[in-house]
This record gives sequence, C-alpha cells and structure tokens, in this order.
Amino acid sequence: MTSPSAHPGTPFSPAAAVRRPPALIFLHWLTLALIAAVLGLVFVREGIDEKALRMTLINLHRSLGLCVALLVVVRIAVRLAKRPLPPTADASPLEHFVAMAVHLALYVLMFVLPLIGWALSSANGKAVSFFGLFVLPPLVEQDEDLGDVFAEYHEGAAWLLLGLVGAHAAAALAHHFIKRDGVLRAMLPVWLAGRRS
Ligand code: HEM
Ligand code: HEM
Repeated sequence: MTSPSAHPGTPFSPAAAVRRPPALIFLHWLTLALIAAVLGLVFVREGIDEKALRMTLINLHRSLGLCVALLVVVRIAVRLAKRPLPPTADASPLEHFVAMAVHLALYVLMFVLPLIGWALSSANGKAVSFFGLFVLPPLVEQDEDLGDVFAEYHEGAAWLLLGLVGAHAAAALAHHFIKRDGVLRAMLPVWLAGRRS
C-alpha cells in the first residue's frame, strides 16, 4: 500500500526512473566538495604558525566560500526553471515537509554563511579578494567589535550547516539502505546510480 503522493497530480511510481536534472546533480556534489575544502582550509590553518601561509589559506577559504554563495544562486535558478520536480519517493506529508524545510534551511545557509564571512572580514579591515582576480568592496564599515560578533555568527552558522548536512546525509542513506527507495539514486550521476534507477 502506498500513501497519496505529496505532489497532487504527479503520482509517485516506484517503477519510473526518477532522476534529478544533471545540472542540479552536478551543482549538488560540487557544493559538497567546496564546503569540505572550505572547512578543511580553516582546520589546517589552525595548526599553522607561518603568517604568509595562514594568509594564503584564509584567502582560499574566502574565495571558495564565495563560490558556494554564487553556486547556490545558480542552483535555485535551475531548480525554479525545472519546476515541478517529480517526487523521488512515496513520502508522508510530514516527511515531505521536514525534507523541504531542511533543504530550504540549507539553501539559506549556503548564501548567508559566506555573506557573514565577507562582513566579518570587512569589519576586521581585511580585503576580500576573489582568487586574487579582483577585490570585493567592504560589506560593512571597519569595527573590531562588530567583527567579533560576525565571527561568532559565522562559526555558529557553520556548525548549524554541518549539523543539518549530517542529518540530511543520514536521511539520504537511510532511504537508500533501509527503505531501499530511489531517493539517493535520483541525486547520483548515471555512472554511479546505474541505468535502472
Ligand atoms: C560555505 C562557506 C563557509 C563556511 C562553511 C565557513 C566556515 C568557517 C569556519 C568553520 C571557520 C572557523 C571559525 C572559528 O574557528 O572561529 C571560519 C573562519 C573564517 N571564515 Fe569562513 N566559512 C565560509 C565562507 C567564508 C567566506 C565567504 C569568508 C569571507 C569572504 C569567510 C571568512 C572567514 C574568516 C575571515 C574566518 C576567520 C575568523 C577568525 O579567525 O576569527 N568565510 N569559516
Ligand atoms: C554526503 C552528503 C550528502 C548526501 C548523501 C546528499 C543526498 C541528497 C539527496 C539524495 C538528495 C535528493 C533528495 C530529493 O530531492 O528527493 C539531496 C538533495 C539536496 N541536498 Fe544533499 N546530500 C549531501 C550533501 C549535501 C550538502 C553538503 C548540501 C548543502 C550544503 C546539500 C543540500 C541539498 C539540497 C538543498 C537538496 C535539494 C535539491 C537540490 O537543491 O539539489 N546536500 N541530497
């Protein structure tokens, strides 16, 4: 027995091949790689004393972090252009709501977290250069106290992002290995998911 589809008018068919558009799949996994690199850079920097190297690492952190914000704008545009996407599993309205809420929170964080990083750099009087190609204008006036506040927000938002990504990834794996439905395969590239998915 299956429950009614969360998308009226688009009944879920377990036999149908439900796959997210390739552009969304590409942007999804590219963003994961970028976030891993952005976090890896600040953690590696923690253990380094040399000033020049620390500067290079934080500059790379800033540039790759800004890429996350840029990509989420492209991703939302693609998502809206491809609307409505068919459901990937037969979810209850509550499951559907929770998944949507987490996705929405992730979209917001992917944009807001880099902006807080930019504001924190500006408040501390640090120029934000995009891969050394050009320098972005300061987002706020220089103010060290404000810099401390933004630094706390930046760190808090990063932990929140990490927590939500953990829950989101665990849910995707539970769909795949416990419910054994097509949710994870819908987001995998064809060569990983197999042609039947
Ligand atoms: C997805 C994007 C980003 C993530 C997940 C992220 C995450 C983090 C984390 C976890 C830290 C260490 C926090 C701490 O130990 O205090 C950090 C530090 C920092 N981030 Fe980001 N960040 C991102 C984007 C950015 C961007 C776009 C900028 C600037 C344009 C930026 C500027 C900084 C700076 C300057 C620090 C050092 C703060 C300090 O030493 O007090 N970040 N970031
Ligand atoms: C190992 C890590 C991850 C796994 C296994 C995973 C898995 C998935 C799966 C299976 C979907 C499709 C759900 C559906 O549309 O029905 C999805 C969608 C989504 N994921 Fe992830 N994900 C991971 C990491 C991330 C990260 C790091 C982010 C962002 C910070 C993210 C953000 C999203 C968003 C916003 C969606 C909604 C559709 C879209 O915009 O492409 N995911 N994920």
